[in-house]
Amino acid sequence: MINLSAIVYKLDRQSATPLFVQLTSEIRHRIISGEIKSNQRLPPSRSLSTELGLSRSTITSSYEQLVAEGYIEGRRGSGYYTCPIGETEIKIEPSSSKTLPRLKTQSTSHQIGPSSPDMRLFPHRQWAQCVSRVARLTPEALISANDAFGDYKLRHSIASFLRDWRGLDTSPEQILITAGSIDALEICLRTLANVGDFIGLENPGYQPLRNIVLNLGMKPVWLTMGEREVEVPEIKSSTAAPTMTILTPSHHYPLGGAMSPLRRYEFLQWAEQTNSWIIEDDYDSEFRYAGSPIQALAGFDTTNRTIYVGTFSKVFSTGLRLGFLVSPPELIPRFASTLARYGVKAATTAQRALSEFMDNGEFYRHIRRTRRIYAERRKVLLSALQEKLDDIVSIEDHAAGMQLLAALPGQYDDKAIVKAARDQGVVVNALSSYYATGKPRKGLVLGFCGFDEAEIERGVGVIEKVIRAVKL
Ligand SMILES: Cc1ncc(COP(=O)(O)O)c(C=O)c1O
Repeated sequence: MINLSAIVYKLDRQSATPLFVQLTSEIRHRIISGEIKSNQRLPPSRSLSTELGLSRSTITSSYEQLVAEGYIEGRRGSGYYTCPIGETEIKIEPSSSKTLPRLKTQSTSHQIGPSSPDMRLFPHRQWAQCVSRVARLTPEALISANDAFGDYKLRHSIASFLRDWRGLDTSPEQILITAGSIDALEICLRTLANVGDFIGLENPGYQPLRNIVLNLGMKPVWLTMGEREVEVPEIKSSTAAPTMTILTPSHHYPLGGAMSPLRRYEFLQWAEQTNSWIIEDDYDSEFRYAGSPIQALAGFDTTNRTIYVGTFSKVFSTGLRLGFLVSPPELIPRFASTLARYGVKAATTAQRALSEFMDNGEFYRHIRRTRRIYAERRKVLLSALQEKLDDIVSIEDHAAGMQLLAALPGQYDDKAIVKAARDQGVVVNALSSYYATGKPRKGLVLGFCGFDEAEIERGVGVIEKVIRAVKL
């Protein structure tokens, strides 16, 4: 049965035009425009009169008028149905006030932008089975959010994942499901810092995070890159000590490279001395292509000063918008109070299905499979760069993550190169754009996961042409 309840907003009760005429006109309009298809049942006069707040006689007068005009017919014992009306009589143009210009989106013909998984590898059938199982057995889990921290079963699955894959011993109670890791980072800022507080941020680093910190009225303390890893900042006065420091220890973003055990220890010690928090943004640690996995920094922490942040954007889908944070036990009430004050952003629908997907092993199969494929793609990107641009770029490869850095000599304008490449449909990022301050290094941050070998080869071909066309 069709739903006509929205007509209530169209009725003008002050108008000189009788309500039954207005109602007739609204229904007629919907039939002519094709919004209501033929052979559909109209709501019974009694229920429509309740929904629209009109008398039953107004509804029946309107239906009778539409019968007279041939738009609907009464069927004995089963109400009124729309009639086929052939080709629409009047072409109804959408009113110009309602049409919005379509946003131009980037062509992704052979995009090799960083950080995107290849959704063509997504196990749609296995995922659909999990969704349908939840819909059959526990349909309420798809729509009801009983706990601000997220679906308990998913939190349980994440705790097992963290124990087996990241060496973290945590309980489901400590896990808070968020709308991606960026939401988790913002929740940490809102919970643990105040306007005017200092926040340690990597430079270069993830730009949206920098924007959020500035937007919340907090002051960044830039953590510079040493020879191979982020330096522990030297703080001159205790008032300028950061309230929290946000790090990507397993795989620096965007430079790559894992923080040494010694530096991790120094950061933890420093957090203790300055009475501050460490936030570990572990955004893509599932992807290591050589050597053994690197344990999460939070696993080294014996003082409960680290909040671990993870995401499903890289291993599963960016569009899913699910991530999580792991809170030290004593901070759980503070995180709960932030959710109560600012609201929960993570959607419920996918959570239980994701838990099924993790518990039945498909999630782990998917990580292993994509890791194997991405490893091949990384090799293709490395050899294409070596073959075509060895005389100009130096490659900084850490056999991990979803992107690779091709460093350029300082005289190259990496932003101009990125723009020219984008104009030809190849999306890469300029290293200098990740810097907030200081003299930026130049280079191209190249993703290798989102596109197949042929696309990567083509992309590198475009980049080569663009770089060689640069007049120095
Ligand atoms: C270092 C880093 N942190 C956080 C994020 C945010 O990821 P999401 O909010 O999609 O989980 C990204 C996204 O690319 C990232 O690169």
